[in-house]
Amino acid sequence: MSAGIDLDDVCCDFGSFRAVDHVNVSIQPGEFFSFLGPSGCGKTTILRMISGFTEPSSGVVRIGGKDMRGQRPNQRPTALIFQNLALFPLMSVADNIAFGLEVRGVDRAKRRARADELLKLVDLPGAGDKMVSQLSGGQKQRVAIARALAVEPAVMLLDEPLSALDLKLRQHMRAELRAIQKRTGVTFIYITHDQGEALAMSDRVGVMSHGRLQQVAHPRDIYDNPANGFVASFVGENNILTGTVAERGQGMAAYDTALGRLRARMDAAAEGAVKLYVRPEHMRLSESAGAENSVPVTVGDIAFEGNFISVQARADNGMVLVAELRNDGTGAMPAVGARMHMSFDAARAAILPDETAAGA
Ligand SMILES: Nc1ncnc2c1ncn2[C@@H]1O[C@H](COP(=O)(O)OP(=O)(O)O)[C@@H](O)[C@H]1O
Ligand SMILES: [Mg+2]
Repeated sequence: MSAGIDLDDVCCDFGSFRAVDHVNVSIQPGEFFSFLGPSGCGKTTILRMISGFTEPSSGVVRIGGKDMRGQRPNQRPTALIFQNLALFPLMSVADNIAFGLEVRGVDRAKRRARADELLKLVDLPGAGDKMVSQLSGGQKQRVAIARALAVEPAVMLLDEPLSALDLKLRQHMRAELRAIQKRTGVTFIYITHDQGEALAMSDRVGVMSHGRLQQVAHPRDIYDNPANGFVASFVGENNILTGTVAERGQGMAAYDTALGRLRARMDAAAEGAVKLYVRPEHMRLSESAGAENSVPVTVGDIAFEGNFISVQARADNGMVLVAELRNDGTGAMPAVGARMHMSFDAARAAILPDETAAGA
């Protein structure tokens, strides 16, 4: 059982401050959808409007095609999970999970059977008689998810649920959450400021800045084809070059910069102020000049990161470029101070509207 969600031109104002600004998106039934963006960009406000704790100032929220205006939180088919789990510490795990069923008048035996079933689902079989206070952080997180699922919501709303856990557990729980979502088929709407979480777990990601949805796409497209400079910079690293467009056509442009004329992809629709973005892993470092987009450099800092080597190099005008070279196991490292060339394929770089132009 799952439902789709439509946000139809939704705004939310707090006094004269617009926290959510004309958001339009359709989330499919059974989809794992993440809203990704920095603190304060309006993510929690969007969840609160879906769950009914905040009313939109304008626009409509639909769940399963049904207009939610005037529907109170307890009338909506949603369950909400926060970072602060609000489990009852002095109750058993099973009683915590079954709490919502008890409120609904389900009898004791049925409640217990349902709690045991959900404990299997979240990979804590047989834990029903433990006290919540005996559980680790990750186990508590799973109990909270089981409790939310007990009332059979069509939509699960998760507001940065992993941010209180340590790094190892957070990474483990990513896979767990994804697996639980696939097993139940419930629509998950997940909120995070952590790009790794959003990319690793989601079917689609909506990237937000200053209340506006900047791009909605599959994780791979968010990373490989960011819509603007904000998305490119918020998700992953870039070398960013300023300049002016000299020529354009067929999805490509020539761009004049302080490092000379460079070529990169440029969307036919792009206009206004633009910059050139190229990711460090798409930079090559070589003895001789590359065929295109090649800049003479002097090698500066080198950082060995294990699976890759990060090289900072200075162009003759003083600008620093960064390349991340895969550690191929040969032990080859560039020499500090060496005169070399950094280059990149035009197809691996993009000229994008900068973030201020994108409405940030
Ligand atoms: N009840 C409120 N009254 C006034 N301002 C609010 C209220 N709730 C949120 N805001 C403001 O709206 C913006 C978005 O908040 P929020 O949705 O919590 O962001 P996020 O979850 O992305 O960190 C922030 O600037 C926040 O201060
Ligand atoms: Mg928030």
